[in-house]
Parts: sequence; structure tokens; C-alpha cells
Amino acid sequence: MKKTHDCGELRGTDKGKTVVLKGWADTRRDHGGLIFIDLRDRRGLTQIAVNPAVSQSALEIAQEVRPEFVLEVTGKVSQRPDGTVNKNLATGEIEILAEGITILNKSKTPPFPLHGADDSTEALRLKYRYLDLRRPEMRDKILLRSAIVKNIRNFLDANGFLDIETPILTKSTPEGARDYLVPSRLYPGKFFALPQSPQLFKQILMAAGFERYYQIARCFRDEDLRADRQPEFTQVDIETSFMTSDEIMAVVEELIAGVWREFKGKEIQLPIRRMTWADAMLKYGKDAPDTRFGLLISDVTDLAQKSSFNVFTGAAQKGGVVRGIAVPGTTEYSRKDMDDLTEEVKIHGAKGLAWIKISASGEYVSPITKFFTPELIASLKERLGAKNGDTMMFLADEEKIVCAGLAHLRLVLGKKLGMIDDKKDEFVWVHDFPLLEWSVEDKRWVALHHPFTAPVGAKLSRPAGSPPPVGKDGNANMWTTLETADAYDIVLNGTEIGGGSVRIFHSDLQKEVFNLLGIGEEEARQKFGFLLEALEFGCPPHGGLALGLDRLVMILTGSSSIREVIAFPKTQRAIDMMTDAPSDATAQQLKEVSLKVTVQK
Ligand code: AMO
Ligand code: AMP
Repeated sequence: MKKTHDCGELRGTDKGKTVVLKGWADTRRDHGGLIFIDLRDRRGLTQIAVNPAVSQSALEIAQEVRPEFVLEVTGKVSQRPDGTVNKNLATGEIEILAEGITILNKSKTPPFPLHGADDSTEALRLKYRYLDLRRPEMRDKILLRSAIVKNIRNFLDANGFLDIETPILTKSTPEGARDYLVPSRLYPGKFFALPQSPQLFKQILMAAGFERYYQIARCFRDEDLRADRQPEFTQVDIETSFMTSDEIMAVVEELIAGVWREFKGKEIQLPIRRMTWADAMLKYGKDAPDTRFGLLISDVTDLAQKSSFNVFTGAAQKGGVVRGIAVPGTTEYSRKDMDDLTEEVKIHGAKGLAWIKISASGEYVSPITKFFTPELIASLKERLGAKNGDTMMFLADEEKIVCAGLAHLRLVLGKKLGMIDDKKDEFVWVHDFPLLEWSVEDKRWVALHHPFTAPVGAKLSRPAGSPPPVGKDGNANMWTTLETADAYDIVLNGTEIGGGSVRIFHSDLQKEVFNLLGIGEEEARQKFGFLLEALEFGCPPHGGLALGLDRLVMILTGSSSIREVIAFPKTQRAIDMMTDAPSDATAQQLKEVSLKVTVQK
């Protein structure tokens, strides 16, 4: 029999209709001779009333039904008796008086409950993902994700963007992570790389004249995973020709505003606020600032040098910095509390946390007051904007460590002190990133975004061929950056949800940037020859951006991890619990791709 309605569809006005529903037995309640089954599909629940007065055979089958059995139910829509209407259910006014029930399939008892409180481990949920996805919370997230993608497609389509697919088996596309490699059978010893993003292809599409491109694109990055990082994830990937960074940002803002309007019923104030990278690093310690709360960082290196505190003066002498925050409501913190906070900053390489409590009456309480004159502490207080009752907390070290440590401390305290309003959505564009950053580990310049990002003004400010500047201490073993990039990230509540840039579209400039990155002419030709050539055949100025779709949906659904909004995610350890991938290859498979495996256990 054909199903006539979905399980979320029937209302009081359907009274008297004979219907056929198909779905899962969500619950079964046996009232001694009268059985109620909640029949569920992805659209909702409908109550089935099985009464022997209507059908004895239906009752006999209903007695066999257990949760998650798949059923076909035929019956009449009937008004629920007075007092049994369920206002919380869309179909709560009616029930189906079962005339016939067929068990389409049975189910074993699920290894975890599919409704109510969920205290099963994530590993179990991922192993039985098909059951997990039947839970309404998970189902709704996947449905919402689908609706968001549709909304985004509609917006981009209406704005003249073309949906064009790009290869998955390709060549390395450097986005700063490790590549996933696929061995070639036909060319022994050679490998495809899975794309870290469609970056080069979308630029080539601009060279090909398509002008406006988008793709809901899968990207692959073999990197250390976190709550907001997966080895494969999805980008809303966008590229346009003939647009400035301002114009690109405006399009993206409208796209996001449209999503918020439809799915949150909220108007985002446009244009979205902008902040330079330097400002973000100074005041928030990171390039993805959470602007929902204060606790802003201030630099006090100049004042710290006037103290006799070795930790401060030493850091400043070595080219480092001293920075701090004024934290309200913490003067009662115990020694242990302060030690705990110190452990938090140590995660990021800081050696300690200096603090000065200011009592309600303005006295300074700290193990380090002896190193400061009262006037100096007063100046620190003023610089930090601290008030009586606040604690001033400082880090002294290399700038990179101070930034990372204070950024983390700020978030820890913001959460602990209840300063973060979950209901707020704070967007900010971070722009004017450095083009290059000195990698102390590798002793070379690396691109902060990717090597195809244009410098602001489409030219380098340093004269071509001049030696790159070295670090503040003369050795380039400290944090140093070079040139300003025409790049922009969009940040929401402290999470980077997208990033992009205007691209280099002249081959000379691209070669020069490769050169700065230590990519010689031969290597550039080998790796990116096709791009360099394309730039020489009338490539238009172009730029774009990619939004992290998973992160966007994570935030929109209030989820704590992107795994919650991906149908089949990998675990934190990059394993697919359901299929058990990655797994061994057979000897035959390895032979075909000319590989020998020696695993060091
Ligand atoms: P980028 O590397 O900044 O830029 O990536 C764009 C956005 O993708 C999301 N993202 C991730 N989401 C989940 N898991 C990951 N491992 C992961 N890595 C990144 C982030 C990020 O902002 N080709 C450029 C874009 C461009 O220049 O147009 C790129 O990929 O939300
Ligand atoms: P010490 O001189 O090691 O006893 O440290 C005195 C105080 O300074 C302690 O509270 C330390 O946590 C703190 N401290 C040590 N190193 C640093 C640093 N690099 N930045 C800020 N505070 C520090």
C-alpha cells in the first residue's frame, strides 16, 4: 500500500480520512487490551491507537511491536478524546484508529536510548550513527543543515554565481596542513593529493572567464583535530573576478545576513564591524577574537621596564612584551585559584602568571608589589583600566606566547565569570593580516593565509630582491611578520567561520612571493607551473573566500562540536567508528599500487 501521509502531517481537519502511514515505532504503551504506538518518521510523530473493538488482528500484531520496528499502519484519523490532546505535538489533536498493522522490519534493542537524556558515549553513538541520527536532536540538525545549504545556494544563484565542481584527485593545494595522498596504480610511485581546498582550481576558473563561482566543496586536511576541525569538512567556496576585497566582503555579509534572517529570525547589523589583525592580536591575543565580552588586553611593556621585577625587565630586554588584563570579581581568589590560572597560561608556553589584586579600598595585594613603586602600580592600573576590586594579571614573554596565553586566559575567565552572553552573535571581520610570518621551526617565511594571497595594493612594499628583514632580536628566531595581505577572515563569537583574500594575478608578483617563501623557480614550475602560466594568458583580477559550513551550522544549532552537524564525522582521532576506516589494504591492493608497507609498531 502507498503511504498517504507523513507522520508529522495530520491535523484535526483530517478527521475521518482513511490513511496509510509508514515509520518507526518510537514508543509502545500497553494499557491492557489497548495499545498506543507513537509512529515516527523524519517529519514527526503520530499516535496510533490499537483497539480490539476496531481490529483484533491489529492488536495481536501490536503486541509484538518493539521500539524501532518499522511499521505500515492503515486506519482512520480520529479526534483524540477530551483531555488527551497533546499541545506539544503538531499532530497532538488526532490519533489513528488502527485497522491494520504490518511489521515491515523488526529491530534489535538499540544499544542506547533514542530519546530522553543522552548519556551514551560519543563512540557508541558514532558506531551506530544510523540510530543516533534517528534521535530528534540529531535529525533536526541534519535537516537544518540541508535547509541552510539550500538557502545559500539560492542566494548565490540569484547573485549570478555558478556551481562548478573541481577535482578530488588532484595535486597538493597548500593551505598549511598535511595532504592526504592517494597512490596511483597506473603510475607506480606517483600520488594524487586530496584537495585541502579548491583554491587553485577556482582561480583557474577565473582565468577561464567564469567570473563568479561557488561550490559546496569537500576539503581534506590531515591535521590535529579539535572540536571545530575535521579531517574532511565542507566549505562554501566562493571566487569572483573584478571585485575588490570590500565588494567581496559585502556579498558574504549579505549571504550570512540572509541565513540569520531565515534561520534565527534575526537581523544582522550591516556592514559587519572590522578590526585589523594587529588590533585583534593586541587586544584579544588572537586573530579570531570573541567580541561578546570585554577583558581587553593592554600592553605595558614600557611601564614594566621601569620595575625591578626581573621577569618583566628581562622579557622586555630580550625583545619580548609585557601585557595584562584587569579582571573584575577575582580579589577573593585563593592561592590555589591563581595557581590554576597559572596552569592555564602554561599550556601556551608561558612561564608564570603575575598578578596584583586591588582591594575594594585600593590596596595592592601581590607577592610582587615590592618590585614596583606605588606610582608605577598606579600607572599600570590606569593603563589596564583597572578599578578597585579588580585583579591585574600579566604575562611577560615573547610576544607570541604572551598573546596566546592571555587570549586563552581571557576566554577561561570570561566563561568562569559568566561574562559571555550565549544569546549574542558577534561577527567581526579581521583584515590587514600579515602576508608572511617567520617560521622559527623551519627558519623561513611562510604564508599566513596561502601563497596566492595578494599584498595590499597588489605590490610588495619592500624593494624586489632586498634581503628579508630579520627578527626584533636580529636573529629571526622570534615572531616576525612581513608585508600586509589583502586578506580577511570572518569571525563569529571567537570562531573563524571563513577566510579569503584578493589573489595575485600577475605572474611576476606570484614568482616574487614564491621566492620570498623559499620556493625556487624550478620548484614553482613543478608545483604551480599551470597557475603561473594561466596568469600569463590574460588572467583577470580576482579574489574570494571560503566559509566553513560545518562551523557555521555548529554555531547556528548551538552545538559544541562540528561532529554534531556532520552526518558521518570522524572521531577526534580521525577514525570512522561505523565503517572502521582507515583499515588495512590487502596484499593484492598494495601490489597494484606498487606499495610496500612497513609499519613501525
Ligand atoms: P581557510 O583555510 O581559511 O581558507 O579555510 C576556510 C574556512 O574553512 C574552515 N575550516 C575548517 N573547518 C573544519 N575543519 C577543518 N579542518 C577546517 N579548516 C578550515 C574554517 C575556515 O575559515 N582556500 C582558502 C579560502 C580562500 O582563500 O578563498 C581556504 O581554504 O571556517
Ligand atoms: P618567581 O620569580 O618565579 O617566583 O615568580 C614570581 C611571580 O611571577 C609568580 O607569580 C610567577 O607565576 C610570575 N611569573 C613568572 N614568570 C612569569 C612570566 N613570564 N610572566 C608573568 N609572570 C611570571
